[in-house]
Amino acid sequence: MTQQPATTPYNSGLLSNDAQRERDRLEAIQRNVDGFTTGILDGFPIEASWNCLELGAGTGSIAYWLAGRCPDGRVVAVDLDTRHLDAGRAANLEIQEADITRGDYAPGSFDLIHARYLFCHLQDRDDMIARAARWLSPGGRLFVEEPYHLPADTSPFPLVQRILDAYQRTYRKHGADMTWARALPALLARNALTEVAFAGNLGCMGGLDKDRWLPLLTQAAPALLADGLLTEADLAEFATLLKDPAFIDIPQVTISAWGRRPGGEPNASA
Ligand SMILES: C[S@@+](CC[C@H](N)C(=O)[O-])C[C@H]1O[C@@H](n2cnc3c(N)ncnc32)[C@H](O)[C@@H]1O
Repeated sequence: MTQQPATTPYNSGLLSNDAQRERDRLEAIQRNVDGFTTGILDGFPIEASWNCLELGAGTGSIAYWLAGRCPDGRVVAVDLDTRHLDAGRAANLEIQEADITRGDYAPGSFDLIHARYLFCHLQDRDDMIARAARWLSPGGRLFVEEPYHLPADTSPFPLVQRILDAYQRTYRKHGADMTWARALPALLARNALTEVAFAGNLGCMGGLDKDRWLPLLTQAAPALLADGLLTEADLAEFATLLKDPAFIDIPQVTISAWGRRPGGEPNASA
C-alpha cells in the first residue's frame, strides 16, 4: 500500500479546507472549468447504470453532475475533507472521507473515474494513476485533469513573473508538481488504457471579468508573504493591474486526458 505523502499542500496547511478562502477557491475552480469538464464527459457514452468515482471531489459539482447522469448507478465522491460535500444532493451519491493514497477499492469497481486538480498535489502521482486504472471495470474510463503552469519568466508582465515564480516555488516546496500534467496521456497509455485522448483549457489572468486567478492568489497569499516571496505592495499592484483592460495573461493550461480500459462497454444496457 502506498505510504502517506511526506508533504502535500493539503497536509502542510498551505491549502486548508478549514479556511473560508479555500471554499471560495474551490467554488471559483468549479465556476471556471466545470463547463469544459462536462463538455468532455458529454462525449462519453455514459449509461444511467454506471458506477462512478470522483477523486478529490472538493465542493462536489462534478460528483453531483455524474449522480444526475447515472440515476440507476452509484457515484462515490471521496475527499480528505468532505465538509463541502452534501450527501443529500442525490440518493445514488455516496460521500467518503478518505486519503486516496491510503485507501483502496476492489479492482474493476468503477465504469468512470474522474479527478481534477488532485494528482499534482500527491507525491506518488504515477503510482496513483496505476491504482486508479486498476479500479476500472472492463471498458471503464479514467479521466484526469491537471494544471500545467507556463514558465513564470515568459509572462509579458514583470509583476506576474514575480507572482507566478513565488506561487510555483511555494507549491513545489509543499510537494506539488505543476508541470506533471504533460505526462498524463503517456501515463494513461503506459497503464494499458486505450483510446487515449486529451484536450487543453487555457487559464486566464486579468482580462477584467475573465480573470480566474484572484481566488487562487488570495488563497496562497499568506504563505507567499510569510516566505518573503511577495510583498503587500506586490499584491496591491496586482489589484490595480486587474482593473487595466490591457492586462491579459495566460498563466497555465489545464491538460485533460482520458483513456479506456480494454473490454466491453461497461454496464451498458442491452
Ligand atoms: C484543488 S481541489 C479540486 C477539487 C475538485 N476536484 C475540483 O476540481 O473542483 C483538490 C481536492 O483534492 C482533495 N485532496 C487532496 N489530497 C487528497 C488525498 N490524498 N485524498 C483525497 N482527497 C485529496 C482536497 O481536499 C481538495 O478538495
